[in-house]
Amino acid sequence: MIEIIVTKRDKKSLTKEQIEWFIDKFTKNEIPDEQAGALLMAIFFNGLKETELDVWVKAMIDSGERLDLSQVLKPTVDKHSTGGVGDKISLPLVPIVAACGAAVPQLGGRGLGTFGGTIDKMESITGWKAQLSNQDLIKQLNEIGGFIAQPGDKLVPADRKMYSFRDVIGCVESIPFLSSSIMSKKIAEGTANLVLDVKVGRGAFMKDISQARELAETMVKIGNNAGVKTVALLTQMNTPLGNAVGNALEVSESIQVLKGTGPKDLTELTLTLAKEMLSLAGIEKNPQEVIDNGAALNVWEQMVKAQGGDLTNQVPVATDIRHFVADKSGFVVDLDALKVGLSAWHLGAGRSKKEDQVSKTAGIVCLVKEGDRVEAGQNIFEIHVDDPSRFQVAEQALVGAAQIAPAPVEPRKLVLERIV
Ligand code: URA
Repeated sequence: MIEIIVTKRDKKSLTKEQIEWFIDKFTKNEIPDEQAGALLMAIFFNGLKETELDVWVKAMIDSGERLDLSQVLKPTVDKHSTGGVGDKISLPLVPIVAACGAAVPQLGGRGLGTFGGTIDKMESITGWKAQLSNQDLIKQLNEIGGFIAQPGDKLVPADRKMYSFRDVIGCVESIPFLSSSIMSKKIAEGTANLVLDVKVGRGAFMKDISQARELAETMVKIGNNAGVKTVALLTQMNTPLGNAVGNALEVSESIQVLKGTGPKDLTELTLTLAKEMLSLAGIEKNPQEVIDNGAALNVWEQMVKAQGGDLTNQVPVATDIRHFVADKSGFVVDLDALKVGLSAWHLGAGRSKKEDQVSKTAGIVCLVKEGDRVEAGQNIFEIHVDDPSRFQVAEQALVGAAQIAPAPVEPRKLVLERIV
């Protein structure tokens, strides 16, 4: 282990055997924490070359079991987002792409910090179960065309350990670690095609475009080198996506997208990602059609029902809804994703530690978007309160979240770059 640490400390390349040995022993808790920490920190500073990273990712995957999708009869394609405020796109996207004829095996995560996780959002549907056996996952792909589910314990156990380890040694924001963590799980999931939505901006992991571009390029290479056809879009995350931020609120908004009545930005990005996925899967179909003819909504209802979810009743809604008003008249020129995300987090929609429970109903609804005209005193945010003791700090977080000016500004571009 000392030899491995010193090799990376001195900016040299690790061999295949060294990487495989380390990942295996690390996963089995056979490396002292101080040595594992020293190696990860050396990698944080000195990086991993493309060949080292490919071996690292494969070793992480080999720490557990891959999902075998060879019994799935349709082309498989998935999407991964690096996470952002109001990003609920997986919820409408999986049934839309499935309704177009692909199989979408979406293994999602839980949220940490200001980003909500897809699984947390789905769990606000009464009765919905996140975990399915491998057999049921495959059955659901063949019969319905898609699932959103939580990965089982055997999928990349090395990442589960490394993720918490990185968190406590200050090694989260590192391109080799972010890319290997995300891509090992997506490759192990068995999808043949993958679209990455790499978010850029103050509400995202990657605050600037050059970092985001490097992360996207690294992940696209890892995917393609491992035989998964991968493309990435860099998309803006300075302002929230859609209007709703909070678990059940985001489920309701996703259903609006499937009914064709969703917010414009959210619908547009969902359709853009759907087109990328269909193109990779070799399916020529306009995804707008399956919204218009109700097929996507039908797949969504089947997906939810197959996992025990009950959609006969509305998803839960907070009984205590308060408002935040505009302090002057004019046009909204800036709506800050980070402030809105933090406010929802203070209300209980997100976690501060892995073990925390999230509130189903707490969250923020943006009643205005950038470009809208507002009058002084007009309601601009709805604050959905589950625990009244959290209200004051959440309300404070919204101060300055909406900048109002006399003249409107050009709307932001949603898609900034495409990386292949
Ligand atoms: N999501 C992941 O899966 N891994 C990371 O390291 C960060 C976000």
